Amino acid sequence: MSHNFSLFIIALVLLLTSCTGKSYVVDEVFIIPKPNQIKFEKGNLQIDRSIHLFLAPEFHDINDFISTIYLPYFDLQYDASPEKALLRIEFDPSILKEEGYILDITHSHISIKASSAKGVFYAFQTFRQILPAEMEHQHTIEHTILPCISIHDAPRFPYRGMHLDVSRHFFSVDFIKKYIDLMALLKMNRFHWHLTDDQGWRIEIKKYPKLNSIGSYRKETLVGHYNDNPQLYDGERYGGYYTQEDVKDIIQYATNRHITVIPEIEMPGHSQAAIAAYPELGCSGEQVEVATKWGVFDEVYCPKENTFDFLKDVLDEVLSLFPSKVIHIGGDEAPKTRWKNCKHCQTLMKKEGLQDEMELQSYFIKRIETYLNGKGRQIIGWDEILEGGLAPKAKVMSWRGVEGGISAAEQKHDVVMTPTSHCYFDYYQNEHADEPLAIGGYLPLKKVYAYDPIPRSLEPEFIPYILGAQGNVWTEYMKTEDQVEYMAIPRMLAMSEVVWTDKDLKSYDDFIMRLEHVNERLRMLDYNFANHLYEIEGNVNVTNDSMFYSLKAESDQFPIFYTLDESTPSEEAIKYDEPIKIDESTHIKAAVYNQKEQLGRVFEQDIRMHEGVGKAITINVDPHPAYPGSGPQGLLNGISGHDKRYGDKEWLGFWGNDVTISIDLNKPTKLDNIRTRFYNANGQWIYSPSYVELMVDGELVESVETKESTNHIIPVEINCKGVIGQSIQLFIPNYGVIPQGFQGEGNKAWTFIDEIMINQ
Ligand code: ACM
Ligand code: ZN
Repeated sequence: MSHNFSLFIIALVLLLTSCTGKSYVVDEVFIIPKPNQIKFEKGNLQIDRSIHLFLAPEFHDINDFISTIYLPYFDLQYDASPEKALLRIEFDPSILKEEGYILDITHSHISIKASSAKGVFYAFQTFRQILPAEMEHQHTIEHTILPCISIHDAPRFPYRGMHLDVSRHFFSVDFIKKYIDLMALLKMNRFHWHLTDDQGWRIEIKKYPKLNSIGSYRKETLVGHYNDNPQLYDGERYGGYYTQEDVKDIIQYATNRHITVIPEIEMPGHSQAAIAAYPELGCSGEQVEVATKWGVFDEVYCPKENTFDFLKDVLDEVLSLFPSKVIHIGGDEAPKTRWKNCKHCQTLMKKEGLQDEMELQSYFIKRIETYLNGKGRQIIGWDEILEGGLAPKAKVMSWRGVEGGISAAEQKHDVVMTPTSHCYFDYYQNEHADEPLAIGGYLPLKKVYAYDPIPRSLEPEFIPYILGAQGNVWTEYMKTEDQVEYMAIPRMLAMSEVVWTDKDLKSYDDFIMRLEHVNERLRMLDYNFANHLYEIEGNVNVTNDSMFYSLKAESDQFPIFYTLDESTPSEEAIKYDEPIKIDESTHIKAAVYNQKEQLGRVFEQDIRMHEGVGKAITINVDPHPAYPGSGPQGLLNGISGHDKRYGDKEWLGFWGNDVTISIDLNKPTKLDNIRTRFYNANGQWIYSPSYVELMVDGELVESVETKESTNHIIPVEINCKGVIGQSIQLFIPNYGVIPQGFQGEGNKAWTFIDEIMINQ
């Protein structure tokens, strides 16, 4: 009895604390994507949990959503007239853009004006980002003082997308909803759901149950990177699929948030999982298995009548679930090997007058287009659908670059831009060695932010065909939901601003400053975002007689401290405020601190002084534009490239050329040794040269053979003790053509070289 009584007292005290407890004062706002016009006015407005709301009759069909989805943090009471209500949602037909809105917070009330429910929804997403971040966690609002503010806003593009591959790895319904929630917060409106691929079929199709019983499961999965030698597997059966009930649930969830779900059913390629379930869909009819590793596979649908019947049946079920007007039919990476050797395919080509297999692909896509058009839908496909002739009404997703998008727009077809260079969030986002394994490439936040979906070379009359852009999340290397979030966020936030905010209003520094605050909200919402704002980047600046090293973090809100003596930095180390003069070999360690708290990872850089640092260097050919490193001088800056990544500032890549590097040491110099390194990754077409030649003042001094190795780094040392000279030349022959049986066979090999160390 007395025990219960004391519990009662404790409960009462907690309640009192929360009633009288925290209050918030909001005096700055940090909104992503940045609204197009924000004006701060004098004064403020106090709000509490209980709010009187007026909802214009035009918006009565969103009534139920206001308290559940738009504003779950308040107790709402409805008022019949706007005058008395604190929150007034009014219909304003003068707002021409359907998704536009006006949000005014005055000293007496909050006003939202829009001409559609979408506009109201986006006004709420902005309002939500004005409210304290804590409420995302508490799911309720406390006494809060808001600034008076006037926001006029509308998106730049109608298509603001995020993609998710659920074939390579499968994610729960709850996770898909969490992903959609973030899209909604960022005012994104197209969810491209990549449901089928070689490694697993992920949507229930009732007419073809083996798509799920067989096609949704693979017997095991590659571990580590595709390029690892040997490739290893985990031996564990993996898979799953969304039932049609799951799909309906997700579509409803997205629809309530003004997000259209675009399903992708891949064809004719990336269909090995379907062919594993129904081998008769392939050219040979032979049994194959659901793919267990990544890549592009020869198993593609054979354009037989029963294949088209199958696809029509599948699409019928898809159409019954997805209200989206646009259906993604894939179309990318479909090898023609099977078609070239298939009697049916070759006969069909003759009969239809098709010149080559590209035209057969076009025939395939056009038939599917005709079918879907007949059902009132339109197709979108990856840019390969341009090859062999574009289907009459197809929309194009430009991924291999922007050329496909330009070509489609010039043919007056709608385009969604998603080039690998700026939109592939499966690429590394940071150069740090600790980054989780990714497919490769390098796409930092800044580069995403800088993206403009309108290609510079596009003539103005074709600009309206660019509907927008999309971030793609391919999940070969993302086994967990946490990992998906890590790769998608914050690049998705940058993308939201690319597609929403007027180009002229964008500023990366301003975005970073807002991101720092929005991160707090993401933390409250329990997203596992990557945070590289406090990671340091170093830059070397060498001239003939001096060398400086500069440090910079993405955010400059907090100071950097560093050491030069290998000791671990702390907030008591040297504070960085100007470039560091480097006179001798040095090891820099640095980190960002907020008082005593270290914010990012410790940055480390080895700088090795040698006879060549800062000397004049020329190369007979330019490095390839995709891998310029920091130019030729980067080979004489005291810094070596990353041991595991060749895409950084220090590695220079040459494709197919013999390379001659000339260095002028300024004066006759007594030589001892010359060393350098080559990168070796045959899976990525990168080969070390078989030998290197050293000339000094025009005379051949030494020719050194390189060693074969399975390591990524091939070091070379040329001994030249006793030689005196001023002008050094290194001749580095290209490896040549990639031999049969290796990836990229028949193509020219790449050469990657980093620092050239002289007498080190
Ligand atoms: C793609 O990345 N294969 C569209
Ligand atoms: Zn065939």
